[in-house]
Amino acid sequence: MARVLTGIQSSGRPHLGNILGAIVPAIELIKQNNEESFIFIADFHSLTSSKDGELRKENTLAVAAAWLVFGLDIDKTVFYRQSRRPEVAELTWYLSCFTPFPMLANAHSFKDKSERLADVNAGLFTYPVLMAADILLYSADLVPVGKDQLQHLEMCRDIASAFNHQVGEEILTLPEPRISEEVMIIPGTDGQKMSKSYNNFIDIFLSEKDLKKNVNSIITDSKGLEEPKDPDTCNVFKLYSLIASDDQNTQMRKNYIEGNYGYGHAKKEFMELILDKYASERKAFDFYMNHPQEIEQKLAAGEMKAKETGMKLLEKVRAKLGFS
Ligand code: ADP
Ligand code: TRP
Repeated sequence: MARVLTGIQSSGRPHLGNILGAIVPAIELIKQNNEESFIFIADFHSLTSSKDGELRKENTLAVAAAWLVFGLDIDKTVFYRQSRRPEVAELTWYLSCFTPFPMLANAHSFKDKSERLADVNAGLFTYPVLMAADILLYSADLVPVGKDQLQHLEMCRDIASAFNHQVGEEILTLPEPRISEEVMIIPGTDGQKMSKSYNNFIDIFLSEKDLKKNVNSIITDSKGLEEPKDPDTCNVFKLYSLIASDDQNTQMRKNYIEGNYGYGHAKKEFMELILDKYASERKAFDFYMNHPQEIEQKLAAGEMKAKETGMKLLEKVRAKLGFS
């Protein structure tokens, strides 16, 4: 079958959007697949938005722990930190010389981020080239990502085609995106896309006390307790329904429509559902964060394996470009 590869940035703690939109579907895909998969923590990418080294280390461990507690099969996966394989930086340079400037200038995510962020650096601009190198270095066939990453995948294919055309050989494999339609874009506490960079995320790994604050920060309208409420426009209901069973959903919908059910009640139920549904993952996450060497060991093994695959590809690219 196909080689699956994906990465998550370590620009913050892993949130419910990452878990439902990326981690769980990728783990499912890996289960169905016989070939070895590549899963990495995109810590180089996180430098475009966050500059604090200590925090990056902490977030890198937290993102790695999230993959492990949701059941990533590391016997079938090369699991690694992007930055521990510097081959990717070299390939990024080569690929950037095959990337038309207007292609990057037209990227939605760059336009979006450059309007919102104070720090609009060159790394943010060339971000898709590094992402293309992540994928092409390991000849990935299938890349599961959220819908927001689709354009980056198209760019990766275009860059790979331009390179192959130039050197006259299919050295780089064109990847296929795999978008999981049913999860699509998970909303945050403010109803916008949940993201580490918008500070609107639900962090299921927080302590009970902090989780309560986190869930209470979900924005609702100001309807009173007795009034009937519309579940379909409510952020609490939207988030609840993503992790609830069908029966729980039907009951919650009924509570909203009937009235005499406040947003405080809904938030409390959402929080209890998180505590119940993710009890074992929360426990395992705490274990890993208190025993970082357990994570370190697994990543170090993956980094050795990644080197072997990446170097083979890089040697071919170097040879074609006259750098060997
Ligand atoms: P963030 O936006 O929090 O920085 P990343 O860009 O690191 O998240 O995304 C990592 C993965 O998680 C990607 O595959 C991305 O599409 C997915 N993802 C992130 N946020 C969401 C969301 N709100 N809904 C669905 N998937 C998401
Ligand atoms: N840009 C991706 C995101 O923000 C993370 C990422 C970096 C990635 N390199 C990748 C995803 C390679 C898939 C493949 O979500």
